[in-house]
Amino acid sequence: MTKPKTSSTDCVHAGAKPVELSGPIITPIVHCAPFSFDSTAQVIEFQEGRSARQQPEYGRMGNPTVACVESRLAALEGAERAVLFGSGMAAVTSLLLTFLKSGDHVVMTRDAYRRTRDFSATFLKKFGVEVTLVDPSVCAIEKALQPSTAMIFSESPTNPYLNVIDIDGLARLGRDHGRLTVVDSTFATPFNIRPIELGIDLVIHSATKYLGGHNDLISGFVAGREQLLQPLAEMRSNLGGICDPNTAFMLERGLKTLALRMERHNASGLALAQFLESHPKVRRVYYPGLPSHPHHEIAKAQLAGYGGVVSFEIDGDLERTARFIDRLQLPHLTPSLGGVESLVEQVVVMSYWQMPKEEREKLGLNDNLVRYSLGIEDIEDILKDVSQALDGI
Ligand SMILES: Cc1ncc(COP(=O)(O)O)c(C=O)c1O
Repeated sequence: MTKPKTSSTDCVHAGAKPVELSGPIITPIVHCAPFSFDSTAQVIEFQEGRSARQQPEYGRMGNPTVACVESRLAALEGAERAVLFGSGMAAVTSLLLTFLKSGDHVVMTRDAYRRTRDFSATFLKKFGVEVTLVDPSVCAIEKALQPSTAMIFSESPTNPYLNVIDIDGLARLGRDHGRLTVVDSTFATPFNIRPIELGIDLVIHSATKYLGGHNDLISGFVAGREQLLQPLAEMRSNLGGICDPNTAFMLERGLKTLALRMERHNASGLALAQFLESHPKVRRVYYPGLPSHPHHEIAKAQLAGYGGVVSFEIDGDLERTARFIDRLQLPHLTPSLGGVESLVEQVVVMSYWQMPKEEREKLGLNDNLVRYSLGIEDIEDILKDVSQALDGI
């Protein structure tokens, strides 16, 4: 009897045929590091930009699953191109490192995501880039411009006070003064506003939030003109921050229900904000859909909806606010936002506990501030739960 003798060469190569796909309606996940060429001539054609081939030679530079999701994201943002990263912070830091150099100055809105601010104030400073933090208004940004200002970076709506920038005015300011404008539009999503279509140069997202939408992935992207996105893609190849194909697949799946989810988030956000505003145990509500919000008029003019995050101050101190949080049954106590599950945090405890109280106060962060990210649960259940938690304090 002959016993089998298995060759390792066969294990690696036998029977292999290139995958030829005939019309799967779902984007395939391509797990692959190197992508081969048929011949040296093909390599040279590719190197010289004469090849029709889209896929780079190595997965850190690009991936077919990632490319497919990038096209979807660019289409949703009304942009020529999008570049996908392994996190929102990879997108933010890669963008800053691509477009800034020593001696440049950046104007940034004060209530930017904390790590964006920290990276700019510490790391960029080390490399000779100065950052001025300003209130989130076009007027304050204009006043802070210097001859060396290379970039204006703003979030809108901002975290956690949901300030809304006049995106139209910001784009005009950037154009008039010849400065690069960047908007982190994570809280709005392209469902509520498309800054590129209003003239902003680059849009950033933490896709971890509404775009993924299910609290199960970390990703981010930048969208804009090809001319700006090509150097950013080069930077991604150098820094290595590309999104992995599995996550890209999950992101694409999330995107399919973005419009459905955003309709619910927008409606529930407004309903919770209105409920809280009339509650005696709530001192103040920050929600751009409320006429009491300082940027309501801009929001009404520019946003298709006001989003699913509501920030509010409990009538009480740190301890009373913590008691409210701990009585809530429905939302998970955690940072993050934008998923189908409701999430809640007491901002100073979750995101700023390490920061001395005086510094927190300089940023205007009060101990009684709560940020509630509404999921897609029934609004009646969300309101019932918030109501019982307020009754109990
Ligand atoms: C507005 C905003 N931008 C960027 C980020 C960073 O994104 P990621 O957590 O995906 O790295 C966050 C994270 O919370 C955010 O809220």
